[in-house]
Amino acid sequence: MTILNCAYYYCYFDQFNQESSKNSIEGCKLGVIYILHIPSDVEKFLSKLGPRPYSYADLKKFTSDFSESNKVGFGAYGNVYKGQISEGVRVAVKVLVEKDVIEETFIAEVSTMGNASHRCLVKLYGYCFERDVKALVYEYMDNGSLDTILYKKDGDNIEWGKLYSIAVETAKGLTYLHDGWHEQIIHYDIKAANVLLDKDLFPKISDFGLAKLMKREVNDVILTRTRGTNGYNAPETWMPSSRVTSKCDVYSYGMMLFEILGKRSNGFGDNWFPQQVWNKFENEELDQLITDCDITEKDIENAKILAKVALLCAQYVPERRPSMNKVVMMLEKIIPVETPPYPFQFR
Ligand SMILES: Nc1ncnc2c1ncn2[C@@H]1O[C@H](COP(=O)(O)OP(=O)(O)OP(=O)(O)O)[C@@H](O)[C@H]1O
Ligand SMILES: [Mg+2]
Repeated sequence: MTILNCAYYYCYFDQFNQESSKNSIEGCKLGVIYILHIPSDVEKFLSKLGPRPYSYADLKKFTSDFSESNKVGFGAYGNVYKGQISEGVRVAVKVLVEKDVIEETFIAEVSTMGNASHRCLVKLYGYCFERDVKALVYEYMDNGSLDTILYKKDGDNIEWGKLYSIAVETAKGLTYLHDGWHEQIIHYDIKAANVLLDKDLFPKISDFGLAKLMKREVNDVILTRTRGTNGYNAPETWMPSSRVTSKCDVYSYGMMLFEILGKRSNGFGDNWFPQQVWNKFENEELDQLITDCDITEKDIENAKILAKVALLCAQYVPERRPSMNKVVMMLEKIIPVETPPYPFQFR
């Protein structure tokens, strides 16, 4: 082992073992310097260690005692707080509502989530597992979630071409979760609120692995919704005893594509946007619909591709939906888009 390797081990374990309050940045800085020199087997070993543990006291420090001003939102799993580990290193701390998780399950799932590594996934830095507090520590995403951009009244704040590339990158992140490494992760809750945007509006998928982590729960979350979110849930996820596969994420992704097309929420009933898109497609009036969505000439070709891919993803029968890998290839025009059959259950 070279001197550099030894130095890295020393540095890493020193960082890992020392009190969390003194943690991080110096050690991290050193770690980054040395990581450039370490061979792949050491990298593999280090990546196996996964996300690091934090104490509740650490989290309180990062988030100024979970101050209201640092609260950036809340979801079904708990509140999210902005935090700062040290200068320049910001995190989002998600305090989980569920306290009754088994330590072994928690650590196993968190380590899976932490080891998933792709530029289109929000990085999980660490976790807190204390008797009264369970929390996850994520990289902080400056521009919040895609839904806020899509549903804004003055929808002109983002170029539609940028939305198209957000759709492509998100599909790549999902492909990685499904097929890209030795463990398959089904997200179960793909939606615009779980696509977060960094300072350059580059998208990253958040909350992957959470559904499995929290599945033992018997509280409000499971009473109001087992998994996923109304409007995005694939039909098989709410039908008793049906087999749910990664194709449920493809369906939810398709619902999100409709929202990107219309820059609006899909709505319900007679106003359900996916039905309107199908009607226009069937009558060969997609061009008109796209113009009505305020999408300009230069984006019409991509918008048509996106609309057809959305209709393929929204198929009622899971086997008829494409894999996410195929979705990427269609969106990137590597393969032609198939003609979507009628997607929904009833005509
Ligand atoms: N890593 C992060 N960086 C910055 N903001 C985040 C981060 N994670 C979550 N948020 C913000 O916190 C808010 C709540 O997120 P949360 O994931 O708890 O709820 P949700 O996505 O709306 O619903 P769900 O519980 O189904 O995921 C979101 O609006 C998001 O903008
Ligand atoms: Mg979320």
